Amino acid sequence: MSKRLFKNIGTLAGILPEGILRKQGAEMDHVGTLENAWLLTEEGRIADFGQGPAPAADETIDCVGGLLIPAFCDSHTHIVYAGSREGEFLDKINGLSYEEIAARGGGILNSADRLHQTSEDELFAQAMERVAEMTAKGTGAIEIKSGYGLNPEDELKMLRVIERIRKASPALIKSTFLGAHAVGRGYTHESYVQEVCRMMPQAAQYADYVDVFCDEGFFTAADTARILEAGKAAGLRPKIHANELAESGGVQVGVQYNALSVDHLERTGAAEIEALRGTGTMPTMLPGSSFFLGIPYGRAKEFIASGLGVALASDYNPGSSPSGDMRFVWSLACIRMRLTPAQAFNAVTLNSAYAMGLSAETGSITRGKRANLILTHPGWNLTKIPYLHHTPFIRQVFLQGEAI
Ligand code: NIG
Ligand code: FE
Repeated sequence: MSKRLFKNIGTLAGILPEGILRKQGAEMDHVGTLENAWLLTEEGRIADFGQGPAPAADETIDCVGGLLIPAFCDSHTHIVYAGSREGEFLDKINGLSYEEIAARGGGILNSADRLHQTSEDELFAQAMERVAEMTAKGTGAIEIKSGYGLNPEDELKMLRVIERIRKASPALIKSTFLGAHAVGRGYTHESYVQEVCRMMPQAAQYADYVDVFCDEGFFTAADTARILEAGKAAGLRPKIHANELAESGGVQVGVQYNALSVDHLERTGAAEIEALRGTGTMPTMLPGSSFFLGIPYGRAKEFIASGLGVALASDYNPGSSPSGDMRFVWSLACIRMRLTPAQAFNAVTLNSAYAMGLSAETGSITRGKRANLILTHPGWNLTKIPYLHHTPFIRQVFLQGEAI
């Protein structure tokens, strides 16, 4: 494998000049495209693209007029977990809310109990199945959180599993320490916040980022500030869970600590938009969890109208979003949040890459970036994909230039 030519591309979409790390406001309406194009990859990266006579290559892939786009980027997942929680699915159908299920010892603590009893090898095997499912559906970069350990030993077990995934998968992987996902069994609230702060230096040996579930019934903005302070001392930049269940102050504390992203945001007002303006923090919305929990969708349209960028991610986890399908996320963003297909496309590619610190490496068709690509069957375009929300559209996914 050295040079690979993609010829007969009907439309090449997601083209971006070098050096643009995110899109905000009206920039999100724009998607760079080229009709009847070719694209050349070299050693797993995009070497060149254009129209007309194509350069020589070692291998040629005939795209038969299909659409070629950057692979999806999923900046918020919890895919290292043991087993499943379908029992709670029945509770939910019978009328219990996410908070009620959690209060009965279900939810995150249920996953922590299962994870405690599961070997590292088994956890890795289960998570790799989810990664394979996600890459087959077009995702080429994934952020994965800890947070089902809830004690030092099991949190580190999760972080080691994420490290193994990073080495084993062709997808780009980022790792986040979410010790503060819920209060671990055997701790008081205060003793657990202290424990999370103590875990930080060891967690930082594996993790790229630190996260806190800053929400009603979980951790307060004051707890979050303490944990982010410890994260800062260990060199970890925050990515925050905020405003899923209530207006928690999580956005403001995230911005105060220069969070790379603040995520969920189902319940936000003008104050959150104001806090985000002019910052490097990417608001990230997770429509898959709004869909599954039946809670409000984030106000992405207002955020964009205010000049902010928005990223979208799957939140793939066993409790609030048991799906890592980024095409479905794209569809929900259009259908339920009323983003245009172009805005939502930028949110599931470039902006989601930004939200995990990977937008210099992936998220667009740019010379030098990873050749992480989705080739569609002929006849597809950027509107049809979210519109025909479950019709198969992928002909082939390529990660680092290789078909998977
Ligand atoms: O992002 N909100 C907090 N954490 C996850 C849910 C985790 C779970 O229920 O297992 C989320 O929705
Ligand atoms: Fe989450």
